Amino acid sequence: MSKDIKVVRTVKDLRARVAKWRSSGKTIALVPTMGALHDGHLSLVELAAKKSDKVVVSIFVNPRQFGPKEDLARYPRDEAADLARLSSSDANLVWAPSVEEMYGDGFATQIVMEGPAEPLEGEFRPHHFGGVATVCAKLFNQVAPDIAIFGEKDFQQLCVLRQMVRDLNLPLTLIGAPTKRETDGLALSSRNAYLTEPERKIAPALYATLSELATDIAKGADVTAACANAKLKLRNAGFQKIDYLDVRDAQTLRPASDATGESLRILVAAFLGRTRLIDNVPVP
Ligand code: PAF
Repeated sequence: MSKDIKVVRTVKDLRARVAKWRSSGKTIALVPTMGALHDGHLSLVELAAKKSDKVVVSIFVNPRQFGPKEDLARYPRDEAADLARLSSSDANLVWAPSVEEMYGDGFATQIVMEGPAEPLEGEFRPHHFGGVATVCAKLFNQVAPDIAIFGEKDFQQLCVLRQMVRDLNLPLTLIGAPTKRETDGLALSSRNAYLTEPERKIAPALYATLSELATDIAKGADVTAACANAKLKLRNAGFQKIDYLDVRDAQTLRPASDATGESLRILVAAFLGRTRLIDNVPVP
């Protein structure tokens, strides 16, 4: 039976709720989201509930992580549908602040990230990770969770936030959860809603191409040649613009030739029409 989920909209109310849980010894997980919730988000909530007593889901479309020409205005928003989905999930509380509550008048602080924030998304969306890191630092301070769960779909985001938590000694543990996919392999994403019917048919080629590339590289293929071949396949499938498709150290995101970690990750961002899709896979 689903029941209406409790929503708080001010830091004061949020802290009062969390303090009650803390005083009775409960552990707390945070699942940060920008709403438009799909099964991928719900799998994060499920994992959060397995790992802690109480689950807070934040819903906040963070203007500071969108560039001036990006999709902030058209980003899908449907709070009623999100709350209905969360009411029948394991979430205990929704933290849904307004932009004014999150960034009060005269807000003037920004986290500047280097290292894993610089390549890939960092080159094409220079505003992005500063905005993500800043809002996540705020969310971590507001909720003060023991753990926070992030999807591996945004793999670079997870690397960047792990770096921030390490560098600033933030007192929580980040947990990455595997990407949820449609049966044809397309990674679940709120931005899939932008795809036209013909684009939706092409979209699974992204994961298929990454998976083949991962197998080739595991078998010892030359990384540069294999990536060039994979880009060609994507273009032939109908992806007009490929921002990047690269093999990177899975911890530092340095190029594979410079990798020091134990594993490699392949990351891609490519456009189908106006929609920019990202995805990533491990090299087995
Ligand atoms: O992954 C997202 O939805 C966002 O980048 C996050 C982590 C909620 C920060 O706004």
